[in-house]
Amino acid sequence: MGGLGVLAGIAALAALGAGQTAVVAAPGDPGTPRYQAGSDGIGDDYFPLTGNGGIDVTHYDLELRYTPPDPAPAPREGTLEATATLDLTPTQDLHQFNLDLRGLTATSVRVGRKPMAFSQVENELVVTPRPKLKTGRAVEVVVEYGGTTIRPTDIEGALYGWVTTRDGAIVVSEPDGSATWFPVNDHPRDKATYSFDITVPDGLVAVANGDLVGERSAGGWTTWSWDAPDQMAAYLATASVGNFELREYAAPNGLPIIDAIDRDLPATADDGLTQQGEMIVFFESLFGPYPFTSYGAIVDDDSVGYALETQTRPVYSRVANEGTVAHELAHQWFGNAVSPHRWQDIWLNEGWATYDSWLWTEHDGGSTAQARFNAVMNRPATSSFWNLEIADPGPFGLFAGAVYDRGAATLHALRVKIGDEAFFETAREWVTRYDDSTATTEDFEALAEEISGQDLDAFFDVWLHTPTKPTSW
Ligand code: TRP
Ligand code: ZN
Repeated sequence: MGGLGVLAGIAALAALGAGQTAVVAAPGDPGTPRYQAGSDGIGDDYFPLTGNGGIDVTHYDLELRYTPPDPAPAPREGTLEATATLDLTPTQDLHQFNLDLRGLTATSVRVGRKPMAFSQVENELVVTPRPKLKTGRAVEVVVEYGGTTIRPTDIEGALYGWVTTRDGAIVVSEPDGSATWFPVNDHPRDKATYSFDITVPDGLVAVANGDLVGERSAGGWTTWSWDAPDQMAAYLATASVGNFELREYAAPNGLPIIDAIDRDLPATADDGLTQQGEMIVFFESLFGPYPFTSYGAIVDDDSVGYALETQTRPVYSRVANEGTVAHELAHQWFGNAVSPHRWQDIWLNEGWATYDSWLWTEHDGGSTAQARFNAVMNRPATSSFWNLEIADPGPFGLFAGAVYDRGAATLHALRVKIGDEAFFETAREWVTRYDDSTATTEDFEALAEEISGQDLDAFFDVWLHTPTKPTSW
């Protein structure tokens, strides 16, 4: 074990960013400190500084007070004043740990009620707890923070995170935008439960994940309280603010639905939402029980250019189309209940959600999944569409069209190859086995082989790991 310890120590040193120091543990070597600095990244090849090492956050309690921009035109800047309370369990003995926080300023950090030294370096909040933290011994970390909110963008230039709007905010954080609105271990590998108290000027509505548990007004401000009791990846958290009308009803299976529709939108903006209940029942028949305690949509009158499957309550930009609604609902099973272990596994989200929207369209009397598959395969072999290894699309390829459409085609081809029974059993077992957790492409390949009893190495090689058009499989 001594040799292994030294190797692990070197790896930990290599993972540290500039400006950090590490004290390397040497197990069994008396006199050498056992306490380490948690690394500044969780170890995702695509986003080295997202998430952090040495910590497991089990719950986030977010108290946010938000002032939207002045009515005047640009720049769109709001103000956030907040307290985040994190239940945090060290996974190693720590003299220092990091959280991700971007563009906002921490003003105090307490651990176990005592004020601690901390600093902010780029997008890392570095905390130096005293006494030091022991593996497995949970502590409460309270961060007071705030600042000016803007319209942040991801590495591709797409709006994400806490996106300030004229009358509120659209909050959608895939893949690593949660750090723009709370201190976070910003990677799906560290799921947690969440609760929210979001205070906004009277008249505005704040909508987060899960169940609405309270609404109270005082002194011109209204506090909206939400509870999200299921494990959730940070990128799926939302706290969107707008001039929303809340519509509460139930799906045919009794699941509570709360839709939040911007009052400033034309009446047709929510046409695609009318079948949400039937879609839930349809996907349950294929994939097993809906994995969370409630559902609903947020449709804002501003746009980030896309929709996001925020857990239990997807966000739509200006309009919710039926196909997109089916796609975001399917993500609740594929992406949300079971999340990508690494960002390179994104096709497991987008391929499944796209395929499931094909299945819904066929069920609803539209074109068949086979016809949609044929349309993808009609693309000429010379098209650049095929030049992506979809199980490793690169950090700039997460949302490439091929991740969606070739991902969906992969699933259709798999279904034809192993038959409906093995295919849908694989889907259901996937959700059952990895619910509340994360999984990799290799996990998926192994499960399909386990359930079908077939050797699928060549199949997955051609479909997922080769940047050319599949011709035989
Ligand atoms: N995951 C979203 C969906 O498919 C899409 C998404 C997230 C996206 N971030 C993006 C699309 C950035 C384009 C650009 O529902
Ligand atoms: Zn999607």
